[in-house]
Amino acid sequence: MVERETWATRVGFLVAAIGSAVGLGNLWQFPFKTAANGGAAFVVFYLIAVTLIGFPALLAEFVVGRRTHRNVVGAFEDLGGPAWRVVGAMGMVTGFWILSYYDVVGGWVLRYILGSATGAYFDDPGAYLSAVASGPEAIVAQAAFLAIAVGIVAMGIEDGIEKATKVMVPSIVVLMLALAAWALTLGGAADGLAYFLSPDVGSLVENAGTVIPDAVGQAFFTLSLGMGIMVTYASYVGEDDSLPVDGGVIVVSNTLIGVLAGVVVFPILFAEGIDPATSGPTALFEAMAAAFAALPAGRLLGVVFFGVVALAALSSAISLLEVAVSYATDNTDASRPTLAVGAGVVLFVLGLPSALDTGDPGGFSAWFVWFDALAYNLLLPLSVLLVVVFVGWVLGRDAVAELRAGSTASEGVAAAWLWTVRLVVLLGIVATLALGFESLFLAEDATFFAPF
Ligand code: PHE
Repeated sequence: MVERETWATRVGFLVAAIGSAVGLGNLWQFPFKTAANGGAAFVVFYLIAVTLIGFPALLAEFVVGRRTHRNVVGAFEDLGGPAWRVVGAMGMVTGFWILSYYDVVGGWVLRYILGSATGAYFDDPGAYLSAVASGPEAIVAQAAFLAIAVGIVAMGIEDGIEKATKVMVPSIVVLMLALAAWALTLGGAADGLAYFLSPDVGSLVENAGTVIPDAVGQAFFTLSLGMGIMVTYASYVGEDDSLPVDGGVIVVSNTLIGVLAGVVVFPILFAEGIDPATSGPTALFEAMAAAFAALPAGRLLGVVFFGVVALAALSSAISLLEVAVSYATDNTDASRPTLAVGAGVVLFVLGLPSALDTGDPGGFSAWFVWFDALAYNLLLPLSVLLVVVFVGWVLGRDAVAELRAGSTASEGVAAAWLWTVRLVVLLGIVATLALGFESLFLAEDATFFAPF
């Protein structure tokens, strides 16, 4: 077994975890899910879900990782015995599932950087999307995206992930702030912000059945939960770090960047008269591209915008690759680069259906939507549910002790966290799973059967 690495610094861990959390979930899905769910109403549910369910669940994953300093499968085995390996395995499966289509979108983003620089999509953004979103072009781009991620993970925790994210994350923040400042000067700013930030209570009540699972699923996805990522990243953390403080910093930064994404995207769409609610998953690509095509200095803005999205997506993808590489490093003698390439190849193959499928006329893949719906409604909540049951009801007092190590949290605060995990988080997930199950399998237009 190769000796285990650790983060060089606490900031290194924080930045890598923020890099994992901030990704396509914030910059692409959050704005379009908000649009699809009636604007600000969704934002309210999302913020509640992140605070009450996502944050305590994040700490639960941290506790498992740091307590054992093992990969995600070994960690659950160490703490609960061989049967609990299944929780770690479920996390790995969920992660691979998600990354398989996530890297396809990562590929599109790379294409859009090029397309912005050359103005290739300026005449007909819709046709450009159809051309790059599926088929051979999408496969090549997906491979390119994966290759970059594999390269970073191959270099290791300290020299690869930590160094890379230390450059990537601050760049994301600075560029997003600059884009937001510019977006706020556009004619659509007031309408865009109103759409994004003033909730329509009527639509909230009416759509609770889909809004709740979407919001909770989004909270898990955006915090990189249920994929073994935060367990793995915390396994490289020392006993003198405060997990609650680190978790808080990560949650707040991640949420702020999500909100910032809305502040960038909605004013741009409104300025160009593009209805966000009709643009669906293609919003970021087709709609934003249409906006850049029409705006002065659109090429430069497009390169910056899609460049930020690419950085965010990459720093998330590497965290997921690391889960598998860490598992394999703990269990084999193969070198890190070999393992990273191996994981990349598996992901490439898994992503082929999402990359190949030509789905609807917009070029959007039916398989792609299917993979995404299954992840959100089933795999993610189920995977987090297992973690939460384990930490809340099996680890119990040990979890409280681990949470308090290195922190100033009192016994009472830690116990309050434990009970939140045991009850609030658990109930939230069960409700989400029930509603998700309904929309996947039972509803009239059940998503699960759509591609068949
Ligand atoms: N938190 C990530 C995001 O919001 C989710 C993710 C992480 C997805 C790692 C895939 C891989 O984009």
